[in-house]
Formats: sequence, C-alpha cells, structure tokens
Amino acid sequence: MSKTYQIAVIPGDGTGPEVVAEGVKVLQAVAEKSAFKLNFIYYPLGGEHYKATGELLTDDTLKSLANADAIFLGAIGHPDIKPGILEKNILLNLRFHFDQYVNLRPVKLYEGVYTPLKDKCPADIDFVVVRENTEGLYTGAGGCLKRGTPDEVAVQESINTRKGVERCVRFAFEYCRNRNKAKKLTLCGKTNVLTFAFDLWERTFREVAREYPDIQADYAHVDAICMWMVKNPEWFDVIVTDNMFGDIITDLAAMIQGGMGIAAGGNINPKGLSMFEPIGGSAPKYTGLQIINPIAAISAAQIMLETLGEPQAASWIEKGVIKVLRDDIKDVAAGKMGYSTSEVGNLIVSYIKDKC
Ligand code: IPM
Ligand code: MN
Repeated sequence: MSKTYQIAVIPGDGTGPEVVAEGVKVLQAVAEKSAFKLNFIYYPLGGEHYKATGELLTDDTLKSLANADAIFLGAIGHPDIKPGILEKNILLNLRFHFDQYVNLRPVKLYEGVYTPLKDKCPADIDFVVVRENTEGLYTGAGGCLKRGTPDEVAVQESINTRKGVERCVRFAFEYCRNRNKAKKLTLCGKTNVLTFAFDLWERTFREVAREYPDIQADYAHVDAICMWMVKNPEWFDVIVTDNMFGDIITDLAAMIQGGMGIAAGGNINPKGLSMFEPIGGSAPKYTGLQIINPIAAISAAQIMLETLGEPQAASWIEKGVIKVLRDDIKDVAAGKMGYSTSEVGNLIVSYIKDKC
C-alpha cells in the first residue's frame, strides 16, 4: 500500500494563497510520479480569519494540526492588524507549540538569478543557516514597568538553555555531515559582548564538535558574518546561530541568493511536526495581482519532501526550479518575471511531467 502524507495547508494572508496554490500544484505533480500520495487539509488561519471571527489559533486547531505529517504555510501578516498579534499568536505559536526547534534556511544562488554581489556566481553562494527557533529573544520573557511614563523600563530577555542549544547544535553538525560539502560548521555568535548566552553556545558547540572530528568547527561574531556574507559568501557551508541573529542574517542571505521571491525555509522538529514556508511574508501590495514569484513557496515544498524522507520527489522539484530560473523567468522580482504566478507554477509542473 502506498503511503499517504497528510499535509495541513495554511495559505494565510496577502499573497500567501497565490503562492501556496502553486506549491500544491507542484507537489501534486511530483506525487503523481511517486509511490506516495498527498492529502491536503486547508486551515483558514491568518489576518482575514481573525478579523472575521476574532480567532487566532485555537486549541482545537492545534489538536487537529497535530494529526498532520507536515504543515505548508503561505504567509501570516495583515496591514490592518497591529504588528506582533498575528506573528506571535499564529506563526510563533505554531513554532513553539510543535517544538520546531530548528529554522532551516538553505541559501543557494541558482543560475540565471541576479545577485547584488559583484563577481559572485552560483558556485560561491551555497550554504545553509541552522537557526535556533524556540528560544533566545523570541520566548517573550521580560516585561515593562511604568509604560508610557518618563520612568519607563523595558526588559526583553534572551533565554538560552543547555538542552535547547545542544539539540540545535547537534542538528547542525549532523546536517553538515550529511550535506557532505565543505564539512565546515560556523557558529555565529557574539562571545565578546554576550558573555553569558554565547559562552553557553560556544562551550556546547566545542563539546559537541569533539564527536564530529570530520567537521571543521569554526566561529565568527555575528557582525563579522554580515561582512563576510557580502564579501566572501563562499567561505560558508553551514552556519548555526541563535534565534535573533538567525532571523537577521537569513534576510541578508535571502538578498544575496536573489531575494524574497526565492527564499524558503523549514521550521523543523526532527521527531515531530514540521512546517515549511516561503520567508517573504504576505506582500499586501501585490496581493491578488498574480505577479508574485511562487518559487519560494515551491522550494519550501521541496524542503518539506526532503524532510518527510522523499528525496527523489524533492529533487524533481529542484530540477524544475533550476530549469525555470535559468531558461524562462526574466527576473525573480514580483511583476518582472515575464509570467504570472500561476504560469510559473505551470512551467515547473510541465517540466517535471516531461523531463523528470
Ligand atoms: C521569519 C519572520 C518571523 C521571525 C516573524 C514574521 C515573526 O521574520 O520567519 O524570519 O521573526 O521569525
Ligand atoms: Mn525574519
């Protein structure tokens, strides 16, 4: 009997539904050629749903999602809703609830894609960021006193646990070993200033490194990483870092791989339910226009299949993406592709059907 994966789909806000539709289309195309089936279950979470019902993410929805094999997410964010509400209650809530402790961000410049880095080519930009996804500054620890007065105090704490750091670091070493490229893992920290948090990170990193003699264990401060990512991106193979630094450096990394139309990521719980998303956000100004690039969502679907243990189907998606970026799309930016959102999905589907 063939395996059926239950995929929970959260199209979400803005251009989320448009790009998710293309991701689903491509997933269906690879499933047709594979021994597995996919069953998609849709969840209407996001800003519109919140405005209409007052609901963010209910316990019942979390219970229902828990039955899925993976979550495929479009975008969460709405121009009418105060920043933080949807992000914290939906996106971060999902990451924390399902203990998706790794945010995996492959950074790869494909042929035919423009990078703002002069003289850099696809061979130079091919690395992966492993961002801790459930701790650090994202836990919501802290508080404020005397808000709105001249005596106001605001404290936002970075929580780093030995367990949380160690499991993320271990994931990164394993990932680096399996990726089998330069076999170099760089810890991105700030040991010269954050002498508590990154002392824990560095000691954990050095201890775990002893179990991986085949991996070069490298360290760089986060500010220096920003510099080198622009100057010498070819130095990186896998980077591991905390939640906040990871958030920042992965937007920089997205830019050097061609922008938000391309960048995809996975929120991974290696033993539980993982969630995959294009990282570009809801892009309200492009909503409904069919001009947004769906490739980030399609690549997120690829990472989903890799994580589910379907490497062949995942590689067909990547082949389709490579072909369309190299031969068809004029520019990866919204409105400049020379094709509509769904035409890009169709091009990838027809390549997968005919050539893979
Ligand atoms: C990301 C996003 C989120 C984050 C926001 C939307 C809460 O920027 O996935 O990188 O900060 O993690
Ligand atoms: Mn971010």
